[in-house]
Amino acid sequence: MSKSAELAALIRNRAGDEAPEFGLILGSGLGHLSERIDGTAIPYSDLPGFPHAGVSGHVPQLVIGQLEGRRVAVFGGRSHYYESGRADAMRLPLEVLAALGCDRLILTNAAGSLRADIPPGGLMLLNDHIAFAGTNPLIGEPTDARFVPMTDAHDLGLRQALAAAAAAEGVDLPEGVYCWFSGPSFETPAEIRAARVLGADAVGMSTVPEIILGRFLGLRCAAISVITNMGAGLSDESISHDHTKAMAPLGATKLEAVLRRFLREG
Ligand code: HPA
Repeated sequence: MSKSAELAALIRNRAGDEAPEFGLILGSGLGHLSERIDGTAIPYSDLPGFPHAGVSGHVPQLVIGQLEGRRVAVFGGRSHYYESGRADAMRLPLEVLAALGCDRLILTNAAGSLRADIPPGGLMLLNDHIAFAGTNPLIGEPTDARFVPMTDAHDLGLRQALAAAAAAEGVDLPEGVYCWFSGPSFETPAEIRAARVLGADAVGMSTVPEIILGRFLGLRCAAISVITNMGAGLSDESISHDHTKAMAPLGATKLEAVLRRFLREG
């Protein structure tokens, strides 16, 4: 049995057989939604091969249960490329999600904005991305399945449902392009200017490898950024991980309202 099939069996034993309809991956400062699900929490430490999610602001547990009447699998934390140098750090968790029978993935992250009209505290729905980190989670994958088309990486149907949920909640949800930097250092002002020239609207250190892996595994994907700061050099505020964690809850309240409405009606 493959490792993902083994882990899926272990999870079914503890959380029941019903397949999750949605997988949710929660970003920095956003992991606490996983604590509000009516279901079974499984610490990553019980799931051999799952990342230890060593970044503060993440909650390293998988919760399977009901949120707004939908069966969800919520990952309270993720592993980033910058933690291990491995862009495929989230491959096993996503393989397990697919092995559980789930086919839709919603990702969230904290990000820096490049647009004055998307200020800190706001949200941005990703309509595309730029993999600027210079690597790919499918490097080393030996099969032809590695040649994943990325044209529909950000699923139109999911985006429309998220946009409708945001409108119904009265939450502003502009769309934009997310540029993946490796981190862990933040960008320089020159890198932020370069990202703008390339067509980015926000920058961050996650999500893109998971979307690539998600598409590889046949999952429909969509992602929302919680904007915690303006990109380096675009404002006088300081940029730090503490600032990210302090600002994330501002957007997280709106994000939770959008996600709950999306699940109820999507
Ligand atoms: N850059 C990269 N990642 C981030 C930022 C940023 O400005 N803010 C939150 N995550």
